[in-house]
Amino acid sequence: MCLSKTQNAKMEFFLVVFEIKELGVLYYWVFFWCYLCRVVESVGEGVEELKDGDTVIPALIAECKECLNCSSGRTNKCLKFPVSLSGLMPDQTSRMSVKGQMLYHMFTCSTFCEFMVVNVNFVVKVDPKLPLPHASLLSCGFSTGFGMPWKEAKIEKGSTVAVFGLGGVGTGAIAGAHCMGASKIIGVDLIQNKKQTAYAFGMTDFINPNELDGRSISDAIKDMTGGLGVNYSFDCTGVPSVFNEAIEATLEGTGVTVIVGTPKEPTVPFSPGALIHGVRTLKGSIFGGIKPQSDMPALIAKCVNKEFQLDRMVTHKIALDDINDAFQLIKQPDCLKVCIEINGKSAS
Ligand SMILES: NC(=O)c1ccc[n+]([C@@H]2O[C@H](COP(=O)([O-])OP(=O)(O)OC[C@H]3O[C@@H](n4cnc5c(N)ncnc54)[C@H](O)[C@@H]3O)[C@@H](O)[C@H]2O)c1
Ligand SMILES: *[C@@H]1O[C@H](CO)[C@@H](O)[C@H](O)[C@H]1NC(C)=O
Ligand SMILES: *[C@@H]1O[C@H](CO)[C@@H](O)[C@H](O)[C@H]1NC(C)=O
Ligand SMILES: [Zn+2]
Repeated sequence: MCLSKTQNAKMEFFLVVFEIKELGVLYYWVFFWCYLCRVVESVGEGVEELKDGDTVIPALIAECKECLNCSSGRTNKCLKFPVSLSGLMPDQTSRMSVKGQMLYHMFTCSTFCEFMVVNVNFVVKVDPKLPLPHASLLSCGFSTGFGMPWKEAKIEKGSTVAVFGLGGVGTGAIAGAHCMGASKIIGVDLIQNKKQTAYAFGMTDFINPNELDGRSISDAIKDMTGGLGVNYSFDCTGVPSVFNEAIEATLEGTGVTVIVGTPKEPTVPFSPGALIHGVRTLKGSIFGGIKPQSDMPALIAKCVNKEFQLDRMVTHKIALDDINDAFQLIKQPDCLKVCIEINGKSAS
């Protein structure tokens, strides 16, 4: 399965093959995208940035460092290497099959197969000192959350922040806001159990919307911030009703809301008044504004230095054979991430 380049020799797409066998760690994610960490089995012709045996994580997006957007310093939305939704390699073929039948990628990297062929621009090399489960967390959720205050909103020291949803992404957003020197970090989640981990990552106040006696979340946040609201709010739920609350929770005139949560419906109810009359800003984000090649090394270094208690995010571990149990585990109130060990021993 080791291929070096696409058929078009002029194209600058190079391919890398990964081996998962000896590794044993990947993460199940509820939206069928999988966080994981892998070892390079072989690299294609022309690949210089990686070699066999390197530990890498696949990233949601790529970075060319050259296109209009990459060089703007203002966005991580690369134009040269867009996220592929066709499920195919750049040459429009698939490198995967099962029992002779062709398979498609999910986004640009397919993370559930034994070997995968990936465009080198969609992987990030990680320090082998980083434990593999921690590296897995960085391939999407934690990094996305961390990037929201760090790269997308670029919050100032002393800012007040509200984070809606304390899952994998929200926990990252709390850690990011804490690192950027936020003075107050209010976490919001319907599940009480989520607050312990969030406090460990830097949350200063917690709101459970079920305990507000009918008051709105935004009003509760204003009460905690001298009646005015927070400088920044981050939606990490994907729940439409939360978007409006997140906007209303920010300061009129200067408030900024960043949303990454993806609702199930393509269009959702939205009240523009809070933006127009409130003169607030609403921004979307992919991967928290993080550029995989330019920005990830700094975040990886923080994780290697154990600046975050990433172990606390790995609440469950199961063997690959028990993968179906993950669907139940993920619904448990104390579950943050389920680690699937490829070589793990089945419980049954
Ligand atoms: N744009 C991107 O690049 C990007 C990247 C990763 C994830 N996402 C999206 O981010 C969202 C969060 O991902 P995750 O992995 O953290 O999910 P998760 O399920 O681990 O966390 C979501 C949290 O939100 C809480 N929640 C649900 N409804 C709520 C409500 N009404 N009020 C307050 N809290 C509520 C849940 O209890 C849970 O703790 C998803 O929608 C996902 O699709 C986007
Ligand atoms: C990114 O590229 C798009 C499409 O060319 C362009 O419209 C947009 O202004 C660019 N963004 C930046 C910040 O340069
Ligand atoms: C945050 O809000 C406070 C008012 O609550 C304001 O004094 C401060 O300047 C704001 N900070 C930023 C970075 O906007
Ligand atoms: Zn680019």
